[in-house]
Amino acid sequence: MIRTVRKAVIPAAGLGTRMLPISRCVPKEMLPIVDRPAVSYLVSEAFDSGITDVLVITGREKEAMEDYFDFSPEYDAVLTAKGRGDEVKAYRAEVDRGNVFFLRQKEKKGLGHAILQARSFVGEEPFAVLYGDDIIFSETPVTAQLAASYARYGRPVAGLKHVPAADLRKFCSMKAEAIPGAEREEYAISDMIEKPAPGREYTDLAILGRVLLTPEIFDILERTAPGAGGEIQLTDAMAEYARRYGMMGLVFEGERFDLGSKLGLLAANVCEGVKHPEIGEAFTAFLREFAKTL
Ligand code: UTP
Repeated sequence: MIRTVRKAVIPAAGLGTRMLPISRCVPKEMLPIVDRPAVSYLVSEAFDSGITDVLVITGREKEAMEDYFDFSPEYDAVLTAKGRGDEVKAYRAEVDRGNVFFLRQKEKKGLGHAILQARSFVGEEPFAVLYGDDIIFSETPVTAQLAASYARYGRPVAGLKHVPAADLRKFCSMKAEAIPGAEREEYAISDMIEKPAPGREYTDLAILGRVLLTPEIFDILERTAPGAGGEIQLTDAMAEYARRYGMMGLVFEGERFDLGSKLGLLAANVCEGVKHPEIGEAFTAFLREFAKTL
Protein backbone atom coordinates (compact mmCIF):
# COMPACT_ATOMS: atom_id res chain seq x y z
CA MET A 1 0.00 0.00 0.00
CA ILE A 2 1.34 3.43 -0.92
CA ARG A 3 1.02 5.73 2.12
CA THR A 4 1.54 9.47 2.52
CA VAL A 5 5.06 10.27 3.65
CA ARG A 6 4.69 11.94 7.06
CA LYS A 7 7.92 11.06 8.79
CA ALA A 8 11.56 11.99 8.33
CA VAL A 9 14.78 10.97 10.03
CA ILE A 10 17.85 13.21 10.19
CA PRO A 11 20.97 11.29 11.22
CA ALA A 12 23.15 13.85 12.98
CA ALA A 13 25.15 11.89 15.54
CA GLY A 14 28.44 11.71 13.64
CA LEU A 15 31.62 13.06 15.20
CA GLY A 16 32.42 15.33 12.27
CA THR A 17 36.16 14.69 12.19
CA ARG A 18 36.46 16.55 8.88
CA MET A 19 35.31 19.68 10.69
CA LEU A 20 37.89 19.55 13.46
CA PRO A 21 38.84 21.50 15.48
CA ILE A 22 35.46 23.33 15.73
CA SER A 23 33.48 20.07 15.95
CA ARG A 24 35.18 19.30 19.28
CA CYS A 25 32.80 21.74 20.94
CA VAL A 26 30.20 22.87 18.36
CA PRO A 27 28.10 20.21 16.62
CA LYS A 28 28.73 20.54 12.89
CA GLU A 29 24.93 20.61 12.38
CA MET A 30 24.87 23.86 14.40
CA LEU A 31 27.41 25.65 12.22
CA PRO A 32 25.73 28.63 10.61
CA ILE A 33 24.70 29.26 7.06
CA VAL A 34 24.65 33.05 7.52
CA ASP A 35 22.40 33.20 10.61
CA ARG A 36 20.68 29.80 10.77
CA PRO A 37 22.18 26.48 11.82
CA ALA A 38 22.57 23.85 9.13
CA VAL A 39 20.11 21.46 10.81
CA SER A 40 17.31 24.06 10.59
CA TYR A 41 17.52 23.95 6.77
CA LEU A 42 16.92 20.20 6.90
CA VAL A 43 13.97 20.45 9.26
CA SER A 44 12.45 23.23 7.11
CA GLU A 45 12.89 21.11 3.99
CA ALA A 46 11.04 18.27 5.69
CA PHE A 47 8.12 20.47 6.81
CA ASP A 48 8.01 22.18 3.38
CA SER A 49 7.58 18.67 1.93
CA GLY A 50 4.51 17.81 3.99
CA ILE A 51 6.37 15.92 6.72
CA THR A 52 4.73 16.32 10.14
CA ASP A 53 7.17 14.39 12.37
CA VAL A 54 10.95 14.65 12.27
CA LEU A 55 13.33 12.53 14.32
CA VAL A 56 16.87 13.85 14.72
CA ILE A 57 19.37 11.15 15.67
CA THR A 58 21.73 12.92 17.97
CA GLY A 59 24.56 12.19 20.37
CA ARG A 60 26.53 13.44 23.35
CA GLU A 61 27.49 17.13 23.35
CA LYS A 62 24.85 18.00 20.76
CA GLU A 63 22.15 19.48 23.02
CA ALA A 64 22.39 22.83 21.20
CA MET A 65 20.29 21.30 18.41
CA GLU A 66 17.41 20.72 20.86
CA ASP A 67 17.67 24.25 22.22
CA TYR A 68 17.32 25.68 18.72
CA PHE A 69 13.91 24.03 18.29
CA ASP A 70 12.64 25.35 21.63
CA PHE A 71 11.24 28.78 22.52
CA SER A 72 13.67 31.23 24.16
CA PRO A 73 11.80 33.43 26.66
CA GLU A 74 14.89 35.49 27.57
CA TYR A 75 15.32 36.70 23.99
CA ASP A 76 11.57 37.08 23.52
CA ALA A 77 11.29 39.51 26.44
CA VAL A 78 14.18 41.66 25.17
CA LEU A 79 12.96 41.69 21.55
CA THR A 80 9.37 42.44 22.53
CA ALA A 81 10.52 45.35 24.72
CA LYS A 82 12.42 46.70 21.70
CA GLY A 83 9.30 46.56 19.53
CA ARG A 84 10.55 43.51 17.61
CA GLY A 85 7.62 41.29 18.59
CA ASP A 86 7.10 40.28 14.94
CA GLU A 87 10.48 38.54 14.94
CA VAL A 88 9.46 36.57 18.02
CA LYS A 89 6.22 35.49 16.33
CA ALA A 90 8.10 34.51 13.17
CA TYR A 91 10.68 32.30 14.87
CA ARG A 92 8.05 30.74 17.16
CA ALA A 93 5.98 29.86 14.10
CA GLU A 94 9.09 28.37 12.44
CA VAL A 95 10.04 26.09 15.34
CA ASP A 96 6.41 25.15 15.96
CA ARG A 97 5.56 23.98 12.44
CA GLY A 98 5.67 20.31 13.31
CA ASN A 99 7.06 17.81 15.80
CA VAL A 100 10.81 17.56 16.13
CA PHE A 101 11.94 14.60 18.22
CA PHE A 102 15.46 13.77 19.36
CA LEU A 103 16.96 10.37 20.10
CA ARG A 104 20.53 9.53 20.95
CA GLN A 105 22.64 7.02 19.11
CA LYS A 106 24.64 5.83 22.08
CA GLU A 107 27.57 4.47 20.07
CA LYS A 108 28.74 5.85 16.75
CA LYS A 109 28.51 2.64 14.77
CA GLY A 110 27.72 4.22 11.42
CA LEU A 111 24.88 5.73 9.38
CA GLY A 112 23.03 2.39 9.09
CA HIS A 113 23.13 1.98 12.87
CA ALA A 114 21.88 5.57 13.30
CA ILE A 115 18.88 4.82 11.06
CA LEU A 116 18.17 1.62 12.98
CA GLN A 117 17.52 3.76 16.09
CA ALA A 118 14.48 5.20 14.25
CA ARG A 119 12.65 1.87 14.00
CA SER A 120 9.94 2.45 16.59
CA PHE A 121 9.47 6.09 15.50
CA VAL A 122 8.91 4.97 11.90
CA GLY A 123 6.55 2.06 12.64
CA GLU A 124 4.92 0.80 9.46
CA GLU A 125 5.23 3.97 7.39
CA PRO A 126 7.48 5.12 4.56
CA PHE A 127 10.03 7.69 5.74
CA ALA A 128 12.49 10.16 4.31
CA VAL A 129 16.13 10.25 5.37
CA LEU A 130 17.85 13.63 5.16
CA TYR A 131 21.57 13.12 5.74
CA GLY A 132 22.64 15.60 8.40
CA ASP A 133 25.58 16.91 6.36
CA ASP A 134 23.79 17.55 3.10
CA ILE A 135 22.04 20.85 2.49
CA ILE A 136 20.27 21.08 -0.85
CA PHE A 137 18.92 24.35 -2.24
CA SER A 138 16.13 23.70 -4.75
CA GLU A 139 12.88 25.13 -6.14
CA THR A 140 10.85 22.13 -4.99
CA PRO A 141 12.21 20.63 -1.75
CA VAL A 142 14.13 17.45 -2.57
CA THR A 143 12.20 15.42 0.02
CA ALA A 144 8.99 16.40 -1.81
CA GLN A 145 10.57 15.35 -5.13
CA LEU A 146 11.40 11.93 -3.67
CA ALA A 147 7.95 11.59 -2.07
CA ALA A 148 6.36 12.24 -5.49
CA SER A 149 8.49 9.48 -7.00
CA TYR A 150 7.49 7.12 -4.15
CA ALA A 151 3.83 7.96 -4.84
CA ARG A 152 4.33 7.05 -8.54
CA TYR A 153 6.03 3.69 -8.01
CA GLY A 154 5.40 2.66 -4.38
CA ARG A 155 9.07 1.77 -4.00
CA PRO A 156 11.93 3.23 -1.95
CA VAL A 157 13.72 6.00 -3.82
CA ALA A 158 17.35 7.12 -3.78
CA GLY A 159 18.10 10.80 -4.46
CA LEU A 160 20.75 10.81 -7.18
CA LYS A 161 23.15 13.06 -9.06
CA HIS A 162 25.58 12.39 -11.89
CA VAL A 163 29.04 12.59 -10.34
CA PRO A 164 32.37 13.13 -12.17
CA ALA A 165 34.33 9.87 -12.51
CA ALA A 166 37.16 11.12 -10.28
CA ASP A 167 34.76 11.73 -7.38
CA LEU A 168 32.79 8.47 -7.55
CA ARG A 169 35.08 6.68 -5.08
CA LYS A 170 33.72 8.99 -2.34
CA PHE A 171 30.08 8.03 -3.02
CA CYS A 172 27.79 5.06 -3.66
CA SER A 173 27.53 4.12 -7.34
CA MET A 174 24.20 2.78 -8.67
CA LYS A 175 23.45 -0.13 -10.96
CA ALA A 176 20.67 1.70 -12.74
CA GLU A 177 18.43 1.40 -15.78
CA ALA A 178 16.58 4.46 -17.05
CA ILE A 179 12.78 4.29 -16.93
CA PRO A 180 11.71 4.89 -20.54
CA GLY A 181 9.23 7.73 -21.06
CA ALA A 182 9.43 8.91 -17.43
CA GLU A 183 8.70 12.61 -16.93
CA ARG A 184 11.74 12.96 -14.65
CA GLU A 185 15.14 11.33 -14.93
CA GLU A 186 14.17 8.17 -13.06
CA TYR A 187 15.88 4.81 -12.83
CA ALA A 188 15.25 1.28 -11.66
CA ILE A 189 18.05 0.41 -9.23
CA SER A 190 19.09 -3.24 -8.95
CA ASP A 191 22.32 -2.90 -6.92
CA MET A 192 24.83 -0.37 -5.62
CA ILE A 193 28.42 -0.23 -4.45
CA GLU A 194 29.75 2.02 -1.67
CA LYS A 195 33.01 3.90 -2.33
CA PRO A 196 33.96 1.82 -5.40
CA ALA A 197 37.60 1.34 -6.31
CA PRO A 198 38.35 2.80 -9.78
CA GLY A 199 36.84 0.53 -12.46
CA ARG A 200 34.39 -1.12 -10.02
CA GLU A 201 31.67 1.54 -10.25
CA TYR A 202 28.38 0.65 -11.98
CA THR A 203 27.42 4.10 -13.33
CA ASP A 204 28.20 7.74 -12.61
CA LEU A 205 24.94 7.96 -10.64
CA ALA A 206 25.49 8.35 -6.91
CA ILE A 207 23.30 8.88 -3.85
CA LEU A 208 23.61 12.43 -2.60
CA GLY A 209 22.05 13.19 0.74
CA ARG A 210 18.44 12.00 0.47
CA VAL A 211 16.65 8.66 0.35
CA LEU A 212 13.08 7.62 0.89
CA LEU A 213 12.74 4.22 2.53
CA THR A 214 10.11 1.75 3.67
CA PRO A 215 10.16 -0.16 6.99
CA GLU A 216 11.42 -3.41 5.37
CA ILE A 217 14.88 -1.84 5.55
CA PHE A 218 15.00 -2.35 9.33
CA ASP A 219 15.04 -6.16 9.21
CA ILE A 220 17.89 -5.96 6.72
CA LEU A 221 19.76 -3.38 8.82
CA GLU A 222 19.47 -5.61 11.91
CA ARG A 223 21.42 -8.28 10.00
CA THR A 224 23.91 -5.96 8.28
CA ALA A 225 27.47 -6.57 9.42
CA PRO A 226 29.92 -3.66 9.73
CA GLY A 227 31.27 -2.79 6.29
CA ALA A 228 33.55 0.00 5.00
CA GLY A 229 35.37 1.74 7.89
CA GLY A 230 34.04 -0.84 10.39
CA GLU A 231 30.67 0.96 10.38
CA ILE A 232 27.17 -0.40 9.71
CA GLN A 233 26.54 1.11 6.30
CA LEU A 234 23.06 2.15 5.21
CA THR A 235 24.12 1.57 1.62
CA ASP A 236 24.94 -2.11 2.35
CA ALA A 237 21.35 -2.58 3.56
CA MET A 238 19.91 -0.62 0.62
CA ALA A 239 22.02 -2.69 -1.80
CA GLU A 240 20.51 -5.88 -0.38
CA TYR A 241 17.03 -4.37 -0.63
CA ALA A 242 17.68 -3.32 -4.24
CA ARG A 243 18.95 -6.77 -5.22
CA ARG A 244 15.98 -8.48 -3.59
CA TYR A 245 13.03 -6.21 -4.40
CA GLY A 246 14.41 -3.43 -6.64
CA MET A 247 14.20 0.24 -5.79
CA MET A 248 13.94 3.53 -7.66
CA GLY A 249 16.35 6.39 -8.21
CA LEU A 250 15.52 9.99 -9.05
CA VAL A 251 18.00 12.57 -10.32
CA PHE A 252 16.73 15.46 -8.22
CA GLU A 253 16.71 19.14 -9.06
CA GLY A 254 18.81 21.21 -6.66
CA GLU A 255 22.30 22.20 -5.65
CA ARG A 256 23.89 20.17 -2.87
CA PHE A 257 26.49 21.33 -0.36
CA ASP A 258 28.47 19.03 1.91
CA LEU A 259 28.28 20.83 5.23
CA GLY A 260 30.48 18.17 6.79
CA SER A 261 33.41 19.68 4.87
CA LYS A 262 35.07 23.06 5.27
CA LEU A 263 34.76 23.92 1.59
CA GLY A 264 31.07 22.98 1.51
CA LEU A 265 30.31 25.11 4.55
CA LEU A 266 32.00 28.17 3.05
CA ALA A 267 30.40 27.67 -0.38
CA ALA A 268 26.90 27.35 1.14
CA ASN A 269 27.48 30.56 3.09
CA VAL A 270 28.50 32.43 -0.05
CA CYS A 271 25.44 31.16 -1.98
CA GLU A 272 23.01 32.06 0.79
CA GLY A 273 24.89 35.21 1.76
CA VAL A 274 24.40 36.91 -1.62
CA LYS A 275 20.63 36.24 -1.43
CA HIS A 276 20.15 37.22 2.20
CA PRO A 277 17.51 39.98 2.59
CA GLU A 278 19.51 41.86 5.22
CA ILE A 279 23.11 41.63 4.02
CA GLY A 280 22.86 40.21 0.47
CA GLU A 281 23.58 43.45 -1.36
CA ALA A 282 26.46 44.51 0.87
CA PHE A 283 27.96 41.01 0.80
CA THR A 284 27.77 40.88 -3.00
CA ALA A 285 29.55 44.25 -3.21
CA PHE A 286 32.20 42.94 -0.80
CA LEU A 287 32.68 39.78 -2.87
CA ARG A 288 33.06 41.77 -6.10
CA GLU A 289 35.82 43.89 -4.57
CA PHE A 290 37.45 40.92 -2.87
CA ALA A 291 37.49 38.86 -6.08
CA LYS A 292 39.63 41.57 -7.70
CA THR A 293 42.37 40.92 -5.15
CA LEU A 294 42.56 37.17 -5.85
P1 UTP B 1 29.54 10.96 7.81
O1 UTP B 1 30.42 9.77 7.84
O2 UTP B 1 29.66 11.92 6.70
O3 UTP B 1 29.64 11.80 9.17
O4 UTP B 1 28.03 10.45 7.98
P2 UTP B 1 30.76 11.88 10.26
O5 UTP B 1 31.15 10.53 10.74
O6 UTP B 1 30.23 12.82 11.30
O7 UTP B 1 31.86 12.65 9.43
P3 UTP B 1 33.44 12.69 9.44
O8 UTP B 1 33.84 11.85 8.29
O9 UTP B 1 33.93 12.21 10.80
O10 UTP B 1 33.77 14.15 9.23
C1 UTP B 1 26.91 10.91 7.23
C2 UTP B 1 25.79 11.31 8.16
O11 UTP B 1 25.48 10.25 9.09
C3 UTP B 1 25.54 10.70 10.42
C4 UTP B 1 26.43 11.94 10.39
O12 UTP B 1 26.08 12.82 11.46
C5 UTP B 1 26.15 12.53 9.02
O13 UTP B 1 25.03 13.37 9.05
N1 UTP B 1 26.09 9.62 11.28
C6 UTP B 1 27.24 9.00 10.92
C7 UTP B 1 25.40 9.25 12.42
O14 UTP B 1 24.33 9.83 12.76
N2 UTP B 1 25.91 8.24 13.19
C8 UTP B 1 27.08 7.60 12.88
O15 UTP B 1 27.48 6.69 13.62
C9 UTP B 1 27.74 7.99 11.71
